[in-house]
Amino acid sequence: MRSIASAPGKVILFGEHFIVYGGKAILCSINKRITIESQLSNSDKIEIDSGLGTISVSKNEPLQNIDPVFKPVIYVAQKILQKFNSDSGLKISITSEIPAGVGLGSSSACCVAAASSISGLFSNYSKEEVLQLAIEAERTIFENVSGADSTVCTYGGIIEYSRDGKIKKLDFVPKFQLVVADSKIMHSTSQVVSKVKKFKDDNPQVFSMLCDKEASLIEETLGALKKNDLNTIGAKMNQNQAHLEKIGVSNDLLGSMLGTVNNVAYGAKMTGAGDGGCIIALVNDTNLDRVIGALRSKNYECFAAQIDTTGVEQKVKDSP
Ligand code: PMV
Repeated sequence: MRSIASAPGKVILFGEHFIVYGGKAILCSINKRITIESQLSNSDKIEIDSGLGTISVSKNEPLQNIDPVFKPVIYVAQKILQKFNSDSGLKISITSEIPAGVGLGSSSACCVAAASSISGLFSNYSKEEVLQLAIEAERTIFENVSGADSTVCTYGGIIEYSRDGKIKKLDFVPKFQLVVADSKIMHSTSQVVSKVKKFKDDNPQVFSMLCDKEASLIEETLGALKKNDLNTIGAKMNQNQAHLEKIGVSNDLLGSMLGTVNNVAYGAKMTGAGDGGCIIALVNDTNLDRVIGALRSKNYECFAAQIDTTGVEQKVKDSP
């Protein structure tokens, strides 16, 4: 038996970094997926084959000995094998359409898909159970993770997320798409989060004022999203970008990419931790081609992304 699960990547539409200090964020999942296929084996090993490399370890290998790239998936595998008292090993194969390390949720989608795929060999986990295990897995590499990414990769659609874990799925049909452009600079979320903490400690008043402004911006944006008011949503993206620049997480390259779409998109901002990663530009059918054309004319790699509304999906197939 093979259990195959896939989970979508994500972008943060609004609120990255400020959410770490109690704010809200708005995230959406996108139609680029990571797929994980797992199968029980007769060995005592957990074997992973992925675009980022391969690994074969004893199924009881202490987690601290595992390469961080594979740690979350090994964690999920060990946890599930132990929970179901399984004598088997596991073969896991990972394929991804989501570029890694650029804020598009590849590691969260991987944790969600792994939790769903591996649990599917033994039981029928609910989305809530998949999410809980995925967040535990993510914490093996980034202890303070907010859980927002895994949440949107699990449920799909657009969600409003608060640091205390409150999730609200926004139930409207978005009449927009995003263009995602990749700066090709990989970032470490934990390093950028530490940098923001330093900014906050050095500039407590400015930071507190920005948190307040971001909170109002998000409330106003929620209203505009419900009305599919692209002009307002775009203007709010531009304002959110200004807040991110003030806390020092944007850079010259991201600035140039945003400048390229300035007059053609409804609005644009960096997405995720920053210091590299991606920008997102708000478009619909009227300006999609122009935004892609503008970015490609400057040799920036980009793609159109639609909002994924399904979240994690899992099915079981007979082997082979
Ligand atoms: O990992 P990224 O690039 O999607 O960004 C994470 C978002 C932060 O707000 C910076 C951190 C967090 O845990 O919410």
